[in-house]
Amino acid sequence: MNDLPTISQYQVFKNRKRILKNPLPFHHENFEKYGDIFKVKIGFNKALVFTRSPNLIKHVLQKQHKKYHKSPLQTVDLAKYIGHGILTSNGEDWRTHRRMVQPAFHKKKLLGLLHIMNDTIQKEVSRIKPNEVQNIFPLMGDLAFQVVANSLFSRSDIQEDMSRLQAITEANQKMLIREMRQSYFKWWFKLSGMIQKHLDLSEKGRYLLNKIIEERIQSKVDKDDLLAMLLKARYEDNTPMPRRQLIDEVLILFTAGHETTANALSFTLFLLAKNQNAQQKVFEEVSRLDLESDDIMQQISQLNYTKQCLEEGMRLYPPAYIIDRIAIEDDEFEGQIIPKNTMILMSVYELHRYADFWESPDTFSPERFNIENKKDFQEYYYPFGAGPRMCVGNNFAMYEMVLTVAEIVKKYNLQTVLNEVEINPLISLKPRAVPINFLER
Ligand code: HEM
Repeated sequence: MNDLPTISQYQVFKNRKRILKNPLPFHHENFEKYGDIFKVKIGFNKALVFTRSPNLIKHVLQKQHKKYHKSPLQTVDLAKYIGHGILTSNGEDWRTHRRMVQPAFHKKKLLGLLHIMNDTIQKEVSRIKPNEVQNIFPLMGDLAFQVVANSLFSRSDIQEDMSRLQAITEANQKMLIREMRQSYFKWWFKLSGMIQKHLDLSEKGRYLLNKIIEERIQSKVDKDDLLAMLLKARYEDNTPMPRRQLIDEVLILFTAGHETTANALSFTLFLLAKNQNAQQKVFEEVSRLDLESDDIMQQISQLNYTKQCLEEGMRLYPPAYIIDRIAIEDDEFEGQIIPKNTMILMSVYELHRYADFWESPDTFSPERFNIENKKDFQEYYYPFGAGPRMCVGNNFAMYEMVLTVAEIVKKYNLQTVLNEVEINPLISLKPRAVPINFLER
């Protein structure tokens, strides 16, 4: 990829302050100036390839996925805090464990979890104070964390341990971001013992999880939750996962499953607060539901417009806004050689707002996701990734989010004075603050 337009280290240095705050406008300017693929120099002989090309994204994630691995950003930097589970591993190790974790997320299995999920959502939504302005982001953070915790352990008496675990995962994410964005201080983070302090926190988290897992095994109770599925999973030689692996997979479900969902919910609820017409349509859809029915799946299947609002929310604000890969062998794309070790950063955020593919790309228009139009977007829409490493929890997340939006809009008319929500692109794309007034209906 020698011929690609290249952003020099000087240009990066010149823009360092705004890149640190929010690199997305810098990416956008370069895509507009140089086209769908460009390089950013990060060292004498090192560069990152940035792309929003739908063809290259499909090539890397699907057509030639075997030639690409997750980059060290996830397999080393993130893994040091959350361990080596399916999110942070590659190759045979990933394949083996993905085969063991995936069945827990099959649609049929999720049916058994819907009641736990729905009860948790109702409890969390009841904590919203009516007729008051509140920042919805921390509320959705707690909700999403509790949904994963209850779906894993189906226990209500471990609240204190779960709050501790939530604080640990959030503190470690903050540390990781500092390491990535302020890599020039990495020596200091190490020397001052800050990194070690956070690694110790991770171990505390593992200790809490181990205690809960041990209690489950000792109790000999057969439950129908995610932990039960992971405990039953077997390698080909019929042995179970070693405890350390099991703990890492659980830790990863917390990390991958709670923040992304909280972000998507917060952005979508903000968009609904701004677009009263769309909110009214969600309310009418929810009002038509048979609330006496115990069939939660049937209710979800009737909430089509609500689902479209979430899909549109994730188009405008994809929680996984950049997907990274590294070439593990030489490859070729449209006549260009992609040498081994090339790091590729695929901007889902840019692709989702690309004017060549989306009409009025910055406008919130859930209608574009109605069933007749939907297949047109497959090539340009990747909220859950694509190919064999596509999100394992995508159905889980959609059910959870549809139920949450429905429960909130059923009770409250959401309003906001904010014109634009300020984005905070960290490991995932977060909002800074989302003040919403919850007017009781
Ligand atoms: C709105 C919510 C969510 C979004 C937007 C999202 C997005 C994604 C994306 C884009 C990937 C692929 C990353 C890549 O290819 O590099 C991914 C992977 C993953 N997600 Fe999600 N996710 C969400 C919710 C969840 C939930 C609820 C869980 C579990 C409870 C989960 C567990 C995982 C795991 C374990 C992986 C790694 C899969 C693998 O590499 O085999 N996610 N997610």
